[in-house]
Amino acid sequence: MTQALKITDPEMRQNITGISSLDLPVIEDILDKAQSYADSFKNNAPLPQILKGKIILGLFLENSTRTRLSFEIAVKRLGGEFVLMTADGSSLKKGESDFDTCVTLNAYAPDALVIRHTDDGFANFAARHMSCPVLNAGDGIAEHPTQALLDALTIRQHFGEINGLTVTICGDTRHSRVAHSNARLLTLLGATVRFVGPDDLLDTECQNVETNNDFDAALADSDVVMMLRIQRERLPNTLKIDFKKYINLYSLNRARLDQCPAHCMVMHPGPMNRGVEISDEVADLADRTLITRQVENGVFTRMACLDLVLR
Ligand code: NCD
Repeated sequence: MTQALKITDPEMRQNITGISSLDLPVIEDILDKAQSYADSFKNNAPLPQILKGKIILGLFLENSTRTRLSFEIAVKRLGGEFVLMTADGSSLKKGESDFDTCVTLNAYAPDALVIRHTDDGFANFAARHMSCPVLNAGDGIAEHPTQALLDALTIRQHFGEINGLTVTICGDTRHSRVAHSNARLLTLLGATVRFVGPDDLLDTECQNVETNNDFDAALADSDVVMMLRIQRERLPNTLKIDFKKYINLYSLNRARLDQCPAHCMVMHPGPMNRGVEISDEVADLADRTLITRQVENGVFTRMACLDLVLR
């Protein structure tokens, strides 16, 4: 059943700028809708063409494989058109201000804007200056709400429910928007979330999240271990990572996986840096990882998000 929209901005539109832009019934609605899209797709049932005649603008100012492709495929499978602009082809490099960019995009009257940006909070800025719904495809280190939603769907599919699970997120939680959105979403859904990593990369300020430097100690009671890439492009110049030491302490290899409960599943939002945060052997263990399922669910989750903001 479609939930009533939660009004989060003066123009009474539903945006998905961050997990905090969604309340619990809306989140549950997105997860249920995503599941029903997944079921229809797997049963070869026709998908409702709810985006027919609609133009979704994708502005991707940082590199992306999974998020961009899954948004584009979601739009097309629901009958809409996806118009893409990337940083290389845009006038942003010619000194155009953020505000002027929004005014220009608005003038094309898209039905929704999907935006990936280098700056924290840009999705909220765009939501204030656009007349259409805005979906955040990742802004700086701030939020990546649709990734967290697809991760929650994947966990729910595998475990039946999220409430009561312990999810260990290991790696560069300080510079990871995936970690930030997942911490907000999974704790809201009743999971215990634990960030693990070296001090320089550990976010100790995220609310309701346990933090720990000791990966080995965190494994024994983890139901899910989510591994993250070191966000090299976001690290301050002064921070030098000793990769040998990092791999020694924080890489998920077979020996570490064997310390986890037998039911524990490995997740990774991608892109994986094999040999750094995850070994080849673990990455390729089909029965202990949910990584490909995460990619598949990216499309269904983004269908549900578009459905929510546009239907
Ligand atoms: C993540 C991102 O862009 O934040 N990737 C993704 O969207 N699947 C994670 C990352 O880049 O490490």
